Amino acid sequence: MNEFDLLIDLHKHNQRQGPGSPQVTEKAIELTGLMSQKNLKIADIGCGTGGQTLTLASYLDGKITAVDLFPEFLKVLSIRTGEKGLNNRITPVEASMNNLPFGDDIFDLIWSEGAVYIMGFEKGISLWKRHLKTGGILALSEITWTTHTRPEELEQFWEREYPEIETVSGKLEVLKSMGFETMAHFILPEDCWIDHYYLPLQKSYKSFLERQKQSQEAIDLVASNKLEFEMYKKYRQYYSYGFYIARKL
Ligand SMILES: C[S@@+](CC[C@H](N)C(=O)[O-])C[C@H]1O[C@@H](n2cnc3c(N)ncnc32)[C@H](O)[C@@H]1O
Repeated sequence: MNEFDLLIDLHKHNQRQGPGSPQVTEKAIELTGLMSQKNLKIADIGCGTGGQTLTLASYLDGKITAVDLFPEFLKVLSIRTGEKGLNNRITPVEASMNNLPFGDDIFDLIWSEGAVYIMGFEKGISLWKRHLKTGGILALSEITWTTHTRPEELEQFWEREYPEIETVSGKLEVLKSMGFETMAHFILPEDCWIDHYYLPLQKSYKSFLERQKQSQEAIDLVASNKLEFEMYKKYRQYYSYGFYIARKL
């Protein structure tokens, strides 16, 4: 089993694959100002098993194209979509966010929770921008420093994990330089990390390790997830996800 298969097996049984919550998705949707509009064309990139996709479908009118690299996650999303009777509203698309199979000026809204980091914030925005209509909205959650100075251990951890981590003002500057006008931004509260992500993940370790027959790779993956949770508990006042909502000029 390769590294991706292990990650998929660990995460596919959960509602979400990263920090977030239905309440935060709802707040960000309200901030887009799109709730009264009809027939929206929406892309949800790096949708995973659809934690935020189903919330988008319940608050916004129109069609959602839900993109992920892994068919196993999209399969779970399709089951959840069917259970909610939303098959005609949500279309799963297996594709890489590096090379989206869409034309220019297609979407009114591009959404992505906890996924743009895979390419990097700046590169993601630069590649996805052309698929948005002028005046269309980009809504991204992205790892963000919440203070201007940090303990050395934490700096080193994130330098290894994601050197593009920045303060809110740094992220806003990137959006501006890429031709976006920021409409709103806010920091995700702790329950998004603990109650909606790490605790459900923690509950899944036992069955994951059983399925993986206690392989060393599976044990290592659980250990690295536990370390990440410990870092979060220790240093949560220094970082979180920021949610950024911006209009293409
Ligand atoms: C941290 S998870 C976030 C999932 C979901 N948005 C959430 O918040 O629960 C990142 C997602 O990006 C997907 N992903 C990873 N690499 C990708 C790529 N190159 N193209 C598209 N999706 C990708 C993963 O499969 C995963 O579902």
